[in-house]
Amino acid sequence: MKNLLITGGCGFIGTNFIRYLLKDTRFRGRVINVDKLTYAGNPENLLDIEKRFKKRYRFIRADICNRKLMDSIFNEFEIDSVCHFAAETHVDRSIYSSSSFIRTNVMGTHVLLELTRKYSDRIELFHHISTDEVYGSLGEQGSFSEASPYRPNNPYSATKAASDHLVRAYHRTYGIPVTISNCSNNYGPYQFPEKFIPLMILNVLEEKPLPIYGDGKHIRDWLYVTDHCRAVWSIMNSGRIGETYTIGGGAEIQNLTLAEMICNLVDRIKGRKNKSKRLITFVKDRPGHDRRYSMDFSKIRRELGWKPSEDIESGLNKTIRWYMENMEWVNRVRKGQYRKWIRLHYSERLKQRG
Ligand code: NAD
Ligand code: DAU
Repeated sequence: MKNLLITGGCGFIGTNFIRYLLKDTRFRGRVINVDKLTYAGNPENLLDIEKRFKKRYRFIRADICNRKLMDSIFNEFEIDSVCHFAAETHVDRSIYSSSSFIRTNVMGTHVLLELTRKYSDRIELFHHISTDEVYGSLGEQGSFSEASPYRPNNPYSATKAASDHLVRAYHRTYGIPVTISNCSNNYGPYQFPEKFIPLMILNVLEEKPLPIYGDGKHIRDWLYVTDHCRAVWSIMNSGRIGETYTIGGGAEIQNLTLAEMICNLVDRIKGRKNKSKRLITFVKDRPGHDRRYSMDFSKIRRELGWKPSEDIESGLNKTIRWYMENMEWVNRVRKGQYRKWIRLHYSERLKQRG
């Protein structure tokens, strides 16, 4: 892997992955980060990386659905491996309107697979990042594994399921070297504050209501983002071609319990006495809301020796502290101020180029 294309690198997991890859691994190649910069993409997350790794990191603003532009990127940068994070990711948004999900998650993945096929002489690996949501919802017992049937229940997960099928089919039909990972809910630094954990942290800090969908007894299996990054990198290096790996945090928690944990942790850090739980507010449930996710990660543990290193308490503590220390980032993200920065930054660059 000399020239690794990372899609969606300005989003939450992509940002953490690029930071991890360049700072904490033995990877010595070049990263080409392609991101469209939707509302969820923020290049400011990687400004220090851009400065520190001038020769080994390159950001290009592009839409993965733009085949011509993506083709020129594959060609010019001699892409030999791909790690595909770019997607529309928020379930609630997909329920409201799903067109952009179908476009990016299905058609965008198709464009990348077609180009991987075109440049197959030099492509070593196409790693596809996917989700546990493709498997649908569990009852009280059992966990999802690589053998679980696909039963997506919302437009977002249906588009991710479609993309997984395309990746698998391109491997079987054209021999493209692929690996796929399906992971559970990530949390940690740089997550857009529409998702449950950062939303709860910020609302507790700002003493705003904590909206809990339905009865709050829905269960998610929480995975600290750096543990996910480690898992992805180990699959990319040592995973078997054509295989899927399920990844989980081993931290199954009901939403209501998690909200209460966040209240307690923030209250402790802030020296408030059991003050925040009163903010919990039950609201109308999400349509098609999956009841329970749980991941069996025995295959990746057995084959690659991976297991999560953070438990929910240590991961939450780190995450809460990160948000408390980065309120300026939060405010800029909320106000979309980095959009102005993008315009300035790139018009400056264009001027410099003449
Ligand atoms: P995110 O929403 O934070 O970031 C997505 C990134 O993709 C953004 O930077 C956005 O600008 C970019 N993007 C969107 N459309 C694009 C397009 N057409 N062309 C180029 N870039 C585009 O998402 P995330 O939480 O970092 O998720 C990354 C991947 O991981 C996704 O594929 C998601 O399905 C998967 N995943 C996420 C979680 C989770 O808990 N966050 C769990 C399992 C799987
Ligand atoms: O499971 C992996 C998936 O996790 C990823 O594939 C998705 O990209 C990611 O968005 C996430 O999906 P969820 O729907 O599980 O995450 P979200 O943070 O939206 O919600 C987590 C749980 O909390 C879910 O049961 C819904 C509930 N919830 C969410 C919000 C935003 C609330 O009760 N209140 C809220 O305000």
